[in-house]
Amino acid sequence: MSEERYLTVALGKGRLARRAMQLFGRIGISCREMEDARTRKLIFADEEHKMRFFLSKGPDVPTYVEYGAADIGIAGEDTILEEGRKIYEVLDLGFGKCRMCVAGPASAMEKLQHRELIRVATKYPKITRDYFCKKKHQTVEIIKLNGSIELAPIVGLSEVICDIVETGSTLRENGLTVLEEVVDLSARMVVNQVSMKMENERITALIERLKKASQEEA
Ligand code: PRP
Repeated sequence: MSEERYLTVALGKGRLARRAMQLFGRIGISCREMEDARTRKLIFADEEHKMRFFLSKGPDVPTYVEYGAADIGIAGEDTILEEGRKIYEVLDLGFGKCRMCVAGPASAMEKLQHRELIRVATKYPKITRDYFCKKKHQTVEIIKLNGSIELAPIVGLSEVICDIVETGSTLRENGLTVLEEVVDLSARMVVNQVSMKMENERITALIERLKKASQEEA
């Protein structure tokens, strides 16, 4: 019975989806149509393996998975932590590695060390709150932004930011520096809790094959 049903995979649009599809390709699962860079289609199928893939905004992946609109999702750990959805995180895919950091001008270090009441700009209010309140026990004012977070301390909106650092070049080119490390991040595979029970055999086999392929890639 389970072989009849499509397994649906939600992918965060962009680089993450491309890397994920490369990995699926290594275990023989692919959607040729998806490789056409001009396509505006959002949903694709591998008929042979009864798999469907759709492209959503990265932060929406855990939502689709929690509600069962997707059985499986591939999303950054940043998104998973921020969304706090009821889903199983089953595999670190080993790509999309970066760090969530508190950053700012070097002069802000003292304010952090003295646990002063500072403003923190971020796209990730939950991760920021958990870090400062639960881990550091420092009271901060969190300002939610939607991008170009590095601007905030430069124009005086906040003392520091809590954001993703990958190569570090955005910080460097804007005269900012990493002040504290919050958490290491990478792409993860997540699974709907009901799907994990109902399609356990197929999903477990898929996890094992992807795990092996990602280890070989590393
Ligand atoms: C992300 C992140 C940093 C930058 C870090 O931004 O928010 O700004 O990448 O990368 P780096 O360390 O390699 O310079 P993104 O490009 O996603 O755009 P955004 O500013 O609109 O969020």
